[in-house]
Amino acid sequence: MDKLLIEGGVPLAGTITISGAKNAALPILAGTLLATRPVTISNVPHLKDVATTLTLLQKMGVIVTMDDRLNVEVNAAEVRERRAPYELVKTMRASILVLGPLVARFGEAYVSLPGGCAIGARPVNLHVDGLRAMGAAVDVENGFIHARAKRLHGAHIVFDTVTVTGTENLMMAATLADGKTVLENAAREPEVTDLARFLMGLGARIQGAGTSTIVIEGVDALGGGEHRVLPDRIETGTYLVAAAMTGGKVKLNKTDPNILEAVLGKLREAGANLQLGDDWIELDMQGKRPRAVNIRTLPYPAFPTDMQAQFCAMNAMADGVGTVTETVFENRFQHVLELQRMGADIRIEHNMAIITGIPRLTAAPVMATDLRASAGLVLAGLAAEGETLVDRIYHVDRGYERIEEKLQQLGARIRRVP
Ligand code: EPZ
Repeated sequence: MDKLLIEGGVPLAGTITISGAKNAALPILAGTLLATRPVTISNVPHLKDVATTLTLLQKMGVIVTMDDRLNVEVNAAEVRERRAPYELVKTMRASILVLGPLVARFGEAYVSLPGGCAIGARPVNLHVDGLRAMGAAVDVENGFIHARAKRLHGAHIVFDTVTVTGTENLMMAATLADGKTVLENAAREPEVTDLARFLMGLGARIQGAGTSTIVIEGVDALGGGEHRVLPDRIETGTYLVAAAMTGGKVKLNKTDPNILEAVLGKLREAGANLQLGDDWIELDMQGKRPRAVNIRTLPYPAFPTDMQAQFCAMNAMADGVGTVTETVFENRFQHVLELQRMGADIRIEHNMAIITGIPRLTAAPVMATDLRASAGLVLAGLAAEGETLVDRIYHVDRGYERIEEKLQQLGARIRRVP
């Protein structure tokens, strides 16, 4: 099992390019199941989860070709298998995103229930309830969701909780439903908006994506098209925090400063000097130690839960006391236990971590538990005294393209060891 060996204490400096957003690429690839003609998708990140999704589509009979510049061409004119098997779903919960498209286009879907994961139970009741409201018969038995409908019809759905993939699944299902669907209390994440842009390119009729009320007028069929995936705001935030923690100066290209404003605001509060361009962000820490900040995760446009672990790592070595409150997931402090092994002074009370920054974390062997927790541990290793070995970094590879290469480009002393 690969590990990352990091020698800390090097201020990051230089320029890297940000990849396409994982959490936009995954629903968009699932959405190709709705298209009757070929679709070309560019700026697809080269990640384990993307590879898993492409494998899932191919197992269904979808024709997938990738060119050398990572443009993906998908032809879902013929789909013979309408099931997402457990062995694929268990490695990637986002497989649930094929449920809506399969029922909408083919009238039937078998999707394995995605299990929980390290950060929480991750139920999909809102996905199922929404499909039932649209007329699907859905049985959840022996680990599978079996959904079928002659043709879905429009519905007025109010989400009990803001759910990103729930919004995405039902928005995709509604594109081919008979009549109008209204999604209220919908997720406003930029990845939802990017998916809507993709679907409208295929001929879908969607209004309000990016707001909490999305209206979809169903059509009989969707054609083909092309789409460029938007930049990954979480990858962007992760490298900005890495520079802030190491007192460095970095420039991130092919990103978008308008989709992570809550994160940029907190980095300024921590003392970072930010320059913003249309598609680039430059952070200069001027060799300073960051100041502690208070974080409260909430649905977009508020501070993203996927940046919570990274800010715990920054607060652990910042000047002052910072609190981090996690309101989205019930168990997303796994990284705290590992940070404590590196000397971090963190107390957890319910869903709040109270972090008293220390000048220097000390290197220790640590273990990743989930995608963003592992990113937080890599950042801690970059700032710690000595050599940190991060184990189980397959979690990292699921969400960060070539993380050690990009960090090496910024001068980090990091390498992958078997
Ligand atoms: C998406 O997960 C992201 N994944 C997650 O990113 C992200 O952390 C999360 O949204 C929150 O922003 C993808 O987009 C592929 P939710 P998702 O449904 O859609 C509860 C990463 O690191 N809920 O918005 O699964 C749920 O338990 C990953 O890239 C229900 O109760 O998250 C949670 O408490 C990690 N019933 C809350 O809603 C449901 O049917 C938000 O979950 C659905 C969700």
